Amino acid sequence: SAQLHELALAAGLDFFGAAIGEGNTHDSQYMAIASDTSEIGQLTPENGQKWDATEPNRGQFNFQQGDIVAGIAAQNGQLLRCHTLTWYSQLPGWVSNSGFSYEELQSVIETHIENVVGHYKGQCYHWDVVNEVIDDNGDWRDSVFYTTMGTDFLAVSFNAAKAADPDAKLYINDYNLEYNEAKTDRTVEAVEIILDSGAPLDGVGFQGHLIVGSTPSRSDLVTVLERFTQYGLEVAYTELDIRHESLPPNDAALAQQGDDFANVVGSCLDVPNCRGVTIWGFTDKYSWIPGVFPGEGAALLYDENLQKKPAWTSISSIL
Ligand code: XIL
Repeated sequence: SAQLHELALAAGLDFFGAAIGEGNTHDSQYMAIASDTSEIGQLTPENGQKWDATEPNRGQFNFQQGDIVAGIAAQNGQLLRCHTLTWYSQLPGWVSNSGFSYEELQSVIETHIENVVGHYKGQCYHWDVVNEVIDDNGDWRDSVFYTTMGTDFLAVSFNAAKAADPDAKLYINDYNLEYNEAKTDRTVEAVEIILDSGAPLDGVGFQGHLIVGSTPSRSDLVTVLERFTQYGLEVAYTELDIRHESLPPNDAALAQQGDDFANVVGSCLDVPNCRGVTIWGFTDKYSWIPGVFPGEGAALLYDENLQKKPAWTSISSIL
């Protein structure tokens, strides 16, 4: 039977892809699926390109971790979504705790982006340039970037990324935009600030860390995606997983999960400028969810034995 990336291409998307954990590449059964380009046509490095990995000390760049998934994608001919540059988390203390002035922090951001984006120049189909800049209440996230530079760090980041790799599509990325509440409103404001500044912006990434039974309907998701595509931007689901809040899921819960995944993927099909779907991992064998939401999980398309779940079939049947 047809696999998900080939079905996604036939349905008009650019990709169906997955994040790959740099620590999982020893698992040959896992890697066989990750490298099946009919199934997974796009890879995202789960951690290796983040600031703490790429510039752990000021001016000391290290691409060993980031190159792992970039190298796999290049070898297999898969698209690479690069992730991420200006983010408050997995950010070394030398950035967050040094008391930099506005001008110093601008230079720190520009140097980081020039080097990291420069290293991957020509390899990144997308870059998540800024990540999670709005907090859960819809306020600007109280990061070192915002507290030092106000919203100017947005344009600084996008301009630096464009200068270092003019061909990569540049994204702002966040979670819980799917619910179309205060956080989404503020993200629309962020988009307007970036566009008004004249800085380059191509897309908005909906992370899509969702919950079985609480995932918005397909039409509600279309409505919120279109809040951004009306600016001429593209959108994508960049980190999709839909977790069960109690484990193990019974058959009804697995079917509900399938319906929820179909709503998300279906909403992307309904919006012409929704360009693709990336799941955050692909197997319940390796997922960040249980570590962050204790007792929850089973959020992906393959079970812990790397067998396809009902959610896989549900997606394949709507693509
Ligand atoms: C997560 C990774 O999956 C974990 O391995 C890591 O410990 C923490 O970060 N939003 C993002 C991703 O943008 O980078 C996060 O990835 C999940 C939430």
